[in-house]
Amino acid sequence: MPQSQTRRRVHKIGRKKLFDKYELYQKAVQSAETDVEFLRKVYREIRKKDPQLLREDFCGTFALSCEWIKLHKNFSAIGVDLDPEPLEYGKSHGFKKLNESQQKRLRLIEQNVLKGRLPSADIAIAMNFSYFVFKSREIMKQYFQNVYRSLKKNGIFIVDCFGGSHCFEANEEKTNYKSFTYFWDQASFDPVTNRAQFYIHFKMKGQPKRERVFSYDWRMWSVPELREIMQEVGFLKTHVYWEGTTRKGEGDGIFTRTEKGEECQSWIAYIAAEK
Ligand SMILES: C[S@@+](CC[C@H](N)C(=O)[O-])C[C@H]1O[C@@H](n2cnc3c(N)ncnc32)[C@H](O)[C@@H]1O
Repeated sequence: MPQSQTRRRVHKIGRKKLFDKYELYQKAVQSAETDVEFLRKVYREIRKKDPQLLREDFCGTFALSCEWIKLHKNFSAIGVDLDPEPLEYGKSHGFKKLNESQQKRLRLIEQNVLKGRLPSADIAIAMNFSYFVFKSREIMKQYFQNVYRSLKKNGIFIVDCFGGSHCFEANEEKTNYKSFTYFWDQASFDPVTNRAQFYIHFKMKGQPKRERVFSYDWRMWSVPELREIMQEVGFLKTHVYWEGTTRKGEGDGIFTRTEKGEECQSWIAYIAAEK
């Protein structure tokens, strides 16, 4: 996944040499602890109070849900994913590290986010661009509508998105960690459909490179397209959080509300939609 400079942290991955794709994914791609603080900040900024119930759509191994419930004893989380494999991984890893009280505040649902009723929440999130899997406006609208209906009265829907000139061409980004290398490979981009094919490859030290460990067939959605669909399904207001820049011109990891972005080769932003 594209990363702002500040997200490129060096992680220790232990001494074991076993290849564990979800462990490497979490180390290279996710910053769950920081992300949940940000989600709480956004809700507080807009609603002037704390949220409690988070629903993590496309939750995979539900790393954010696990961090969310650690923030406060009154916080609870629901993870939704249609694939049992990452859910099972999360149950036998992150979930096991939670204490009893935290485990009680976490619920998992194996479900397609397009189908049926989604559980109610103060904050619903779709992170790491997972919802880019929806290729048509009609289907994206169906998902946003489903989220809108599910949210509590003061609910907020938060998604991340990415773009920049880099996304409109094939390229590969390599990041070295202590015991492995992470590759974010954009194999193609089609300007007629805005569809792009991405892969994640990993190479652990002393082991052969493992190609296409994760693959993503996505449509590149723009911020205005997404905001328009959110408003069409009923969200009252949408806010864009854009990342600040260091003196070197890199992302500083601080996202603030704005109505004006900045042209750059690669950017990540968040959209928060108010019910
Ligand atoms: C890129 S992973 C995201 C994992 C995690 N949210 C993160 O932040 O890294 C995408 C996940 O979305 C799930 N997924 C894809 N389509 C879905 C759908 N229609 N409903 C629910 N989950 C879906 C996949 O099973 C996969 O676990």
